[in-house]
Formats: sequence, structure tokens, C-alpha cells
Amino acid sequence: MQYRIITFGCQMNKSDSERIATVLEKIGYKPAPAINGADLIVVNMCSVRQSAVDRVYGLVSKFQKIKNKKSGLKTILTGCLLRKDKKKLANRFDLVLDIANLPKWPKILDVNSAVISGRELLNTEDYLKIQPKYSSNFSALVPIMTGCNNFCTYCVVPYTRGREISRPAEEIICEIKKLIKRGHKEIWLLGQNVNSYKGRFNPVAKKRDRLNKRQDIKFINFPQLLRKINDVPGNFWIRFTSSHPKDFSDELINAMANCEKVTEYLNLPAQSGDNEILKKMNRSYTVAQYKNLVKKIRKKIPNISLSTDIIVGFPGETKKQFENTVNLFKEIKFDMAYIAKYSPRPGTAAAKMEDTVPQKEKDRREKVLTEILKENTLENNKKYIGKEIEILVENQKSPNSWLGKTRTHKNVLFESKKNLLGKFIRVKITDAHPWGLKGKIL
Ligand code: 5AD
Ligand code: SF4
Repeated sequence: MQYRIITFGCQMNKSDSERIATVLEKIGYKPAPAINGADLIVVNMCSVRQSAVDRVYGLVSKFQKIKNKKSGLKTILTGCLLRKDKKKLANRFDLVLDIANLPKWPKILDVNSAVISGRELLNTEDYLKIQPKYSSNFSALVPIMTGCNNFCTYCVVPYTRGREISRPAEEIICEIKKLIKRGHKEIWLLGQNVNSYKGRFNPVAKKRDRLNKRQDIKFINFPQLLRKINDVPGNFWIRFTSSHPKDFSDELINAMANCEKVTEYLNLPAQSGDNEILKKMNRSYTVAQYKNLVKKIRKKIPNISLSTDIIVGFPGETKKQFENTVNLFKEIKFDMAYIAKYSPRPGTAAAKMEDTVPQKEKDRREKVLTEILKENTLENNKKYIGKEIEILVENQKSPNSWLGKTRTHKNVLFESKKNLLGKFIRVKITDAHPWGLKGKIL
């Protein structure tokens, strides 16, 4: 029996898929090389934008064709799902399963003998406790929390993933210690809003307290967690995503600056450069506060590379308001930006507002920002020329060419006859492009 997982969306979904793989393999499934050969297909869906939802609807007809040839094929839908799509897609899939119910999947799938080996998975109620089948052996995704309490008016996450739940700190640290022992070089801490992490941390109790069963339960915040992870012995990088500007504390800036393993890269979604739009988005900060935050971060971490998320064409966004986002882009000079065209999401507060900006105008606004981004990234990247820096090799592009990442999350293309995948190496930067750098191995 073979399985195939199709994953849409963010790193959190990718990490969830790694846990789904563990569960399926525990109950006897093996990975299928392609969907055509699979007996079980799991679609891990994303609902953040309609385009991702449409792709799932597109897949359904493909599955039907495979099913016509292979009657035993089972299909499962999971992930970030809106109630409306859940209902619509329910009769197109054999099962629609909640990701938070992952420990119960073996029982639901009822794979006879295999259920027995899957039993140990049923002992946990918490799906994040399931050991992932890591898809990389040098870069690992480690969720520290799930859900979101912020209710930005355009966003489905609080509805699809529910409220914030933080993983206990010891569990996270234990997972990271194991990963470092296995040779992982990069840890991505994941959460919809990592700054609001508040996880249990039970310090080792004194013998007297243990005997009296008296042990205080402590909670630690994100900067404290970063410091504890930074103390894990080994040579590795710590990255995290994503952060909300509204609760980005000085304590966090100090932790980032002081922890040598925390890399100089930050995704800080601005979403808009206009105060009125930010208010309508329920983002709880002003443009001035965002700029001030960037100033503080850059003062403490001068070589920080900043990326952002932007939505163009939010309901009611006038040309003048969009120009304010253009101004923010010109002023901050981001190193990367994920620019999205506003997509109304059923059930969210913004879906009740009139979607006033025509598609063509959204396309234009996206292009305008992309052009500014290209100019800014080229300018920022040129500063790297001549520098000797450490990179982590991530990808083989062709037999002799490789792609690595700097601590600042910049791509570096270089040549080597040796297999250097997953290794830290030093390169001299020789050339800069808007989307990356070229280097020579030292
Ligand atoms: N339309 C467009 N983009 C969206 N995002 C979230 N919801 C929407 C939406 N309804 C973007 C935001 C967020 C990123 C993950 O996706 O910029 O930061
Ligand atoms: Fe969505 Fe806002 Fe929460 Fe991010 S912070 S997941 S954009 S509601």
C-alpha cells in the first residue's frame, strides 16, 4: 500500500505533512513515487487565498480519472479548511479529516493489523507530539505553536486553525536536541505569530519538592525560548516565522541580537503602508510604529535582512492609500516581500466589505511593488560583493552548481564538483542580482 501527500500553503502545512507521513508509515503505508501509483492520496489544503482553494478543486477531477482506472484509491482531505469548502468537497473525497485529530487517523482509516502498530500514536491527544518524518536531513521545521488570536479582518487562520496553543518548551527543546544530534544545521521555529508564544517550562524540581509532589509550573515567552534553544550545544542556525509587529518587544530584539545562533533574518509582515487600511485590517499598529520598530531592530542588528508580507487591493484601498505602501517600500528597502492580491475569504470580517479594487488594478499594484522590490534587493545585494561569508548548502542546481543560503536568507549560487548538500561552507561573493548572489567557494 502506497501513499502520496500533496501539500499546499505555508511551512506549517509542510510540517503537518511530515507528521501525516509518520502516521501513515506507522500503519503500513510506503511513499508512492507518483500520485498515479498511490493507493491513498492526502491533500493538505490551504485556504489563505482562493487561488490555492481552486487548485484543490482542480485536483479533484484528476483523482476521479485515476479512480476510474484504480477503484481502490482512497482520498483524504485535511489542512486549513473553511466550513464552506469542507461541505462542498466532502462528497469529492473519501474522508475529510481534521489535522488536530491526526493521532486518531489510524483508527479512522482502520487498516486492520496496522492499527495495532498505530496504537502508540493513539496515546497522544496532541498531534504536535507525533514525531515528524523530516523531509530534509539538514533543515528542520519545528512548530512552537499553532492557531492565532489576532483576527486580522482578511485572514482565515483563526477560523481554520483556531485559537493559539503553545507547545511546552521542554518538548520543543528536546526535539531540537535530537535534531542537532542527528546533524541538522538549521531549525525553523514555526507559528502563525511566534511572538505571542507562552509555553510551559517546568524547571527540574528540588528533591524535597518532588517528594511532596510540589512543583511550580512556569511559563516562558518567545525571547526566553530563543535563549534556551540558543544554549543547545552544536553548530546550527535558528530561524523563525512569522512575527506580528504589534507585539515585537525590546526583549525579543535583545534576544535576537545576543543569541549567536539566531540568524540575521526577519519576516515582519507590514500588510499595508496606510494607517486607515491597517485599521480596517485590525493590525493594531500604525505605519509610524512599524517604521520605528524597524529602526530599533536595525540599530541593534545592523546587518539584518528584512522581508515582509503585503496585501494589495484590500477593500476600499484607494490609489492614494496604495501610494503610502509604495512610500513604505521605498523607505524600508525590504530584502524580500511576499506580495498578495487581496482575496475575499468567506466568514472573515473583510469579506463583508465591498471588494472595490478591480483585478486589473490589483495586478498593477502588485507589479509596481515588485519593481521597487527588485531595485531595492539589487541595491542591498550589491553590498555583499567582495565579502567572505558562511552559507548553508541547500540545493543542487545542476551537476556542478549549487545553491546555498546566507544567515540573512540570501541565495548564493556557486560551483563545486563535490557534494556539499547540508554543509556549512565559506564563499566569496562575486556578483549580485535582484533575487540572489553568486559566489566562489573558499
Ligand atoms: N488575501 C490576500 N492575502 C492574504 N493573506 C492572508 N489572507 C489573505 C487574503 N485574504 C496573506 C497575508 C499573510 C500571508 C500569509 O498571506 O499577507 O501575511
Ligand atoms: Fe492571520 Fe493576522 Fe493571525 Fe497572521 S496574525 S495568522 S494574518 S489573523
